[in-house]
Amino acid sequence: MDPMTIVRPYRATDHAALYDICVRTAHEGGDSRHIYPDLELMPSIFAAPYAELEPDLTFVLDDGERAVGYVLGTADTPAFVEAYRASWLPRLRERFPALDGPPSTPSEVMIDLMYRPERMIVPELAGYPAHLHIDLLPDHQRKGHGRALMNAFLDALHRKGVEYVHLGMVTANTAARAFYDRLGFHEIPVADPGPLTYLGRRTDRTAPPTAEA
Ligand SMILES: CC(C)(COP(=O)(O)OP(=O)(O)OC[C@H]1O[C@@H](n2cnc3c(N)ncnc32)[C@H](O)[C@@H]1OP(=O)(O)O)[C@@H](O)C(=O)NCCC(=O)NCCS
Repeated sequence: MDPMTIVRPYRATDHAALYDICVRTAHEGGDSRHIYPDLELMPSIFAAPYAELEPDLTFVLDDGERAVGYVLGTADTPAFVEAYRASWLPRLRERFPALDGPPSTPSEVMIDLMYRPERMIVPELAGYPAHLHIDLLPDHQRKGHGRALMNAFLDALHRKGVEYVHLGMVTANTAARAFYDRLGFHEIPVADPGPLTYLGRRTDRTAPPTAEA
């Protein structure tokens, strides 16, 4: 690891960097700005609600000047879904009004997801109550920082007494899959996964990583 680059807790002043990292990694791990022109859209669904609702599970990679990566998530997916619906979604309604028909553009597909947080509650994942998202800017990938961020997140969950964590990844993102495989995540079969693959692992980094919930 570059000695100037550290993992630290999220701060409110990281807000703009958090949004920037998200939009530059939100399309199968790469830049999403050409697909979702409103740069608030993807962060409003996949990054900001965690920083807002789960600040002690939000960590950033800081290169000495700014946040260049993050890991964030929740210890309790059903509780997060409830908090998202009650206190996060109302803040989005003006900027992203609910659709009045089926989604017809990539952005509308995301707005549809935005309004359906209950999609995150998947019966097969009940034994893996925590979930996460991890993204680093391209210049900071493949240098061991993703592993360092993940370790911070797993350790924070473990300290909270949460034993298992899952994530949903776009199946087409094969680079991310190689990373998760290397970090000991295993696939969790789900009946109707759509474009996603679900992976999980124990939070205890000293335990055999392949043990299933
Ligand atoms: C996926 C991501 C989080 C991985 O973080 P990273 O800092 O690049 O990964 P690291 O350098 O910490 O790698 C950790 C291990 O995974 C392996 N790995 C990481 N990316 C890999 C790849 N594309 N192919 C093969 N192995 C890979 C590394 O070789 C390393 O193995 P080792 O520690 O045993 O030597 C990061 O690349 C990223 O943000 N990508 C874009 C956004 C994204 O796809 N996020 C995930 C969405 S589901």
